[in-house]
Amino acid sequence: MEAFNIFLFFSTLFLIKSAATDTIAANQTLRDGDTIVSAGGSFEMGFFSPGSSQNRYFGIWYKSIASGTVVWVANRAIPLTDTSGVLKVVSPGILVLLNSSNCVIWSSNTTRSLSSPVAQLLDTGNLVVRDESDSDQENFLWQSFDYQGDTFLPGMKFGKDFRTGLDRYWSSWKSVDDPSPGDYTNRIDTNGYPQIFLRRGSVIQFRTGPWNGLRFSGLPSLLQNPIYTFQYVFNQDEVYYQYELVNSSVVSRMELSSGGIIQRFTWINRTQGWVLYMTAQMDTCDRYALCGPYGSCNIDNSPACGCLKGFEPKAPGEWNVADWSDGCVRRTPLECGNGDGFLQYTGVKLPDTQYSWFNTSMNLMECKKMCLKNCSCNAYTSLDVRGGGSGCLLWFGDLIDIRQCSANGQDLYVRMAASELEEYRSSSEKRRAILIAIPISLLGMLFLSLFLLFHLSKKRKSKREGMITLNPEKECTDEKNGQDIELPLFDFPTIAKATNYFSVNNKLGEGGFGPVYKGMLEKGQQIAVKRLSKSSKQGLDEFKNEVLCIAKLQHRNLVKLLGCCIEEEEQMLIYEYLPNKSLDSFIFDEKRSKFLDWPKRHDIINGIARGLLYLHQDSRLRIIHRDLKASNILLDYDMNPKISDFGLARIFGGNETSANTTRVVGTYGYMSPEYAIDGLFSIKSDVFSFGVLVLEIISGNKNRGFYHGDHSLNLLGHAWSLHKEGKSLELIDMSLVESFNLSEVVRSIHIGLLCVQQSPEDRPTMSMVVLMLCSDMSLPQPKQPGFFSERNFLKSDSFSTKGESHSANLLTLSYLGPR
Ligand SMILES: *[C@@H]1O[C@H](CO)[C@@H](O)[C@H](O)[C@H]1NC(C)=O
Ligand SMILES: *[C@@H]1O[C@H](CO)[C@@H](O)[C@H](O)[C@H]1NC(C)=O
Ligand SMILES: *[C@@H]1O[C@H](CO)[C@@H](O)[C@H](O)[C@H]1NC(C)=O
Ligand SMILES: *[C@@H]1O[C@H](CO)[C@@H](O)[C@H](O)[C@H]1NC(C)=O
Ligand SMILES: *[C@@H]1O[C@H](CO)[C@@H](O)[C@H](O)[C@H]1NC(C)=O
Ligand SMILES: *[C@@H]1O[C@H](CO)[C@@H](O)[C@H](O)[C@H]1NC(C)=O
Ligand SMILES: *[C@@H]1O[C@H](CO)[C@@H](O)[C@H](O)[C@H]1NC(C)=O
Repeated sequence: MEAFNIFLFFSTLFLIKSAATDTIAANQTLRDGDTIVSAGGSFEMGFFSPGSSQNRYFGIWYKSIASGTVVWVANRAIPLTDTSGVLKVVSPGILVLLNSSNCVIWSSNTTRSLSSPVAQLLDTGNLVVRDESDSDQENFLWQSFDYQGDTFLPGMKFGKDFRTGLDRYWSSWKSVDDPSPGDYTNRIDTNGYPQIFLRRGSVIQFRTGPWNGLRFSGLPSLLQNPIYTFQYVFNQDEVYYQYELVNSSVVSRMELSSGGIIQRFTWINRTQGWVLYMTAQMDTCDRYALCGPYGSCNIDNSPACGCLKGFEPKAPGEWNVADWSDGCVRRTPLECGNGDGFLQYTGVKLPDTQYSWFNTSMNLMECKKMCLKNCSCNAYTSLDVRGGGSGCLLWFGDLIDIRQCSANGQDLYVRMAASELEEYRSSSEKRRAILIAIPISLLGMLFLSLFLLFHLSKKRKSKREGMITLNPEKECTDEKNGQDIELPLFDFPTIAKATNYFSVNNKLGEGGFGPVYKGMLEKGQQIAVKRLSKSSKQGLDEFKNEVLCIAKLQHRNLVKLLGCCIEEEEQMLIYEYLPNKSLDSFIFDEKRSKFLDWPKRHDIINGIARGLLYLHQDSRLRIIHRDLKASNILLDYDMNPKISDFGLARIFGGNETSANTTRVVGTYGYMSPEYAIDGLFSIKSDVFSFGVLVLEIISGNKNRGFYHGDHSLNLLGHAWSLHKEGKSLELIDMSLVESFNLSEVVRSIHIGLLCVQQSPEDRPTMSMVVLMLCSDMSLPQPKQPGFFSERNFLKSDSFSTKGESHSANLLTLSYLGPR
């Protein structure tokens, strides 16, 4: 009898336990230290302390994988300071979190009352309150999925319920140690046609474009991804976005980081952890309204901002110094009702739809008519791109935040005055005429090169989709990106003080991405501070690039980086100060050029050659500078040259020697033909720039803008023709006549000409150049230089060494094609 009783007791206990593992019944409590695991073992809930914090929070985290990755927090803003917290379910059906003085510090909400409410942690990570007997998945009294934090899990609805007014949005954590609502929110905005705004405080930072039937406009396409499926619902009841995992064994989540970056991670395993799968913000063009009204951002251009066709910068002065926020204005005002028309743009991220109007049943023709009828309508397009397009979307007010994104953009029709339209129509007709005039055999080759270009740009694109937007705040110290940079960090007050609070008097000039200031540290050491200007948004990438490149280099002919300063809005690089500024301030200046006699100039040429050799070959990395020019050569107290400005430099793998880019950056006059025209850069394009520099140092003339009364050659062409006539000496700067050494000068000019030869293969490597400069070895005769005649630069036949003229011709034309 007794044994039976004991059996009964145990079996009841077992039954209760097994039924209750994922559930808290009414009036039951969950204390700090206890946890509840969801039925399938995927999630766990209980009390925890995030990061290095001592505070206690009630939350939900992954259990079977990634234990410790918190996905939801109840008392985000009001932490418990000790382990006396208790979670309870009380009538009429609310969850309450009590502290040791029995005060409610957090509670859930309800509109109904239940007789026997229970709380249950579902295997999706959703904590729900429901009636004990009602297991209907839709009939929850309350669910944590409606109150999202920084994590967006499969099955969550992100968006608005118009019936109840419920707005489900994400809000970032303050930091990894503090889950209280941080600076950033991401939510669907239903003014006009719905789109999504990522805001910092109340300021819009990033916009996910409107849904176009297949995807959010402007976002990379993930239609074919193997990890998750998604849906977007928009009707009079609700608007939301949702995703589900394809196979629950491949787990993925989205997160709004405390730095305001929207990222998707996928779980690999315990050694690999969470791997970044996608970042919503890809590049600077994703900064909201970067280019202002009627501006359009194209990441492949430099600068990235441009005006829409028929528009011009509103404030040209600011526009030219990379402050594009004022945007553009119409060149020709609209003459409403007087034959306005529309110019079609393809492959764009649709502009901000806050001031838009839409109709799902109209077609594109009706849409156009509708827009024409109203003078304040500036653009239109289809609402849904599927099946050739349907619906109508009209913009009233300025067109803001457009970007070019060939792969997943769509068409946009922008209203224009009739006279402007005429211009664009005729120019496109002209272009067609050129194409028709090309002989058939060339046409075949044109298509081939177009095809190649297309493939290259596709490759580039897919690379970018998987790209990580590095958090600049971590750049200096972060090791997780495999870049073990060890740089001294200066704090902002130190630098501010050293530069006299960035006083105008301390300003040395304007660098690649912002102003450069002179400063003095307390110990008396002089420094140069490169400050990333806030307006130069594009500069951020160059800044990061420079840190990556130069932090690892040490050479007497490279400028030395002392450290960096990275605090919130401020990003600065701190260099050794070079009192004599840059080479161009000497060689191109009539008075100061006298300070540099021939022996000094010869030393400078040698020094630059050694610095460049180090970059190309001897350093731990293989670096192509890409922007070598006189203003990037700094001079120290003893006039020793130091190569600076690595904002555009590229790091290469061990055996790589060249690469291709569709974004040609650099300085005309120093750029080699294959780089300026084909975007192909290599160590040999740096050699070309070096050759230009040598001829400039000897002649005291700039290659770009060189003028000679007798001919239309530029400095390179001039030097070459003098060399052929045996009159090299005529090239030299008048201020050198007293100090020059005949054989050294002639030899240096000869080497300079070898470096600027048309064909990269003919140019020597830097190791060869260094050898040639300091020995008496015999030199080959230089062939014709590339770009020897500036004025003919755009005429394709100007650099036609036989046999190559065709490909040169084609590539010039192929650029006209797709644009
Ligand atoms: C929970 O406790 C309250 C007050 O103590 C009581 O009225 C209620 O009946 C209890 N509910 C359950 C389901 O036991
Ligand atoms: C409990 O919370 C209340 C209200 O927030 C607060 O006034 C009280 O000091 C807290 N008690 C403890 C022990 O933290
Ligand atoms: C929920 O709580 C908020 C304040 O916390 C309150 O304004 C609201 O009326 C409550 N009820 C519902 C159904 O949201
Ligand atoms: C899910 O993935 C696992 C492991 O990768 C595999 O064994 C299983 O067959 C997959 N299930 C489905 C439905 O594809
Ligand atoms: C984790 O995954 C990587 C590659 O996906 C694999 O090389 C490694 O062996 C895995 N580690 C474990 C512990 O499974
Ligand atoms: C949308 O367009 C259709 C067809 O032109 C029209 O019948 C309907 O009333 C419009 N709807 C709205 C909300 O304007
Ligand atoms: C044009 O559209 C705007 C915005 O929808 C509206 O306020 C205005 O009344 C319309 N004007 C005409 C003439 O229809």
